[in-house]
Amino acid sequence: EKGGHASFMEKEILEQPKAIADTLLGRTDEDGKLVLDEMNIDPDRLRAIDKIIIVACGTAFYSGLSAKYAIEHWTRIQTEVELAHEFRYRDPVVDDRTLVVSMSQSGETMDTLMAVKHAKELGALTVSICNTYGATIPRESDAALYTHAGPEIAVASTKAFTAQIAACYLLGLYLAQLRGGTYAEDAQAVMRELAEIPQHVDTVLGSMDRVREIARFMSDTRSVLFLGRHVGYPIALEGALKLKEIAYIHAEGFAAGELKHGPIALIEPGQPVFIVMPAQDSPYDLHAKVVSNIQEIRARGARTLVITERGDEAVRPFADEVIEVPRTSVMMMPLLSIIPLQVFACELATAKGLDVDQPRNLAKSVTVE
Ligand code: F6R
Repeated sequence: EKGGHASFMEKEILEQPKAIADTLLGRTDEDGKLVLDEMNIDPDRLRAIDKIIIVACGTAFYSGLSAKYAIEHWTRIQTEVELAHEFRYRDPVVDDRTLVVSMSQSGETMDTLMAVKHAKELGALTVSICNTYGATIPRESDAALYTHAGPEIAVASTKAFTAQIAACYLLGLYLAQLRGGTYAEDAQAVMRELAEIPQHVDTVLGSMDRVREIARFMSDTRSVLFLGRHVGYPIALEGALKLKEIAYIHAEGFAAGELKHGPIALIEPGQPVFIVMPAQDSPYDLHAKVVSNIQEIRARGARTLVITERGDEAVRPFADEVIEVPRTSVMMMPLLSIIPLQVFACELATAKGLDVDQPRNLAKSVTVE
């Protein structure tokens, strides 16, 4: 069933163009307007929402963190992202104008389910973004928006992650369209950009030879750091999680701006650091800010592996390796920059001879609290 691939994880990484395309399929009408009738929620209830809280665990949590930037930007609704098990037991401020979005590939994660039940008790409107039709979490929620990534077998989540971001973007654009305002007019243009993502992911997947080679060279590495800023920050966290989970390498993700507040002390000669660059046309000179972070760590001997857009000349003088992805808009970039990090972890774990699909101590679906 692995279709000639070394692992299910490898196969699922390669299935991402289809997973994203299928998740977008049938969600717009002939004019390109978003139609999410399947959620079956009274539009007036959605118009009244004044806060969104995304609850999830692990990789699903990082997909929520990635989507937060776009959802707030498009909808102007305050959006929090919280680990489900923290949300459940801390007396959160939730009422009938709160939309609680749970994100779960399996739809069976007990921590996430308990958070959803709690949100309902507090009167919130609950929407489940889930990859498993009819699972417990979507059944317990007021509405479900399914990702159509297909069954995910490898314990480490890959195609569900990108499909979850795509589904969150659909929800964000739908809310923007429904509520009017500046972004309502742009929703269709953003949808067109989103529709091009599967083909860009395909391009990234087709250019991973060097990343695989780097991964094989690094199979003895003891520690890898990941830096990102803005939408690249959750990608750094997810890249680190993938490496811990399947390659058993100590890995940590940081917000690039946080470097000088502590983590830079970790940099010593030879320390590998992945940097997930913001798009070159990111607001507030974020790109230049991260270039100067790379400069700082390189000066202290770090080995810098930079994931950035094609044509980014500014990073080159400070990069030991440049890993390019196609140019897209700011909010679309995380869907591309995660791909090399998935491939890197998968290839490194394979080179170490580990069981990539069934890492030690982990289960695909965590049905206990
Ligand atoms: C990471 C991973 C886990 C899951 C987490 C949530 O690769 O697989 O971190 O993402 O346990 O699982 P779901 O999405 O099924 O709720």
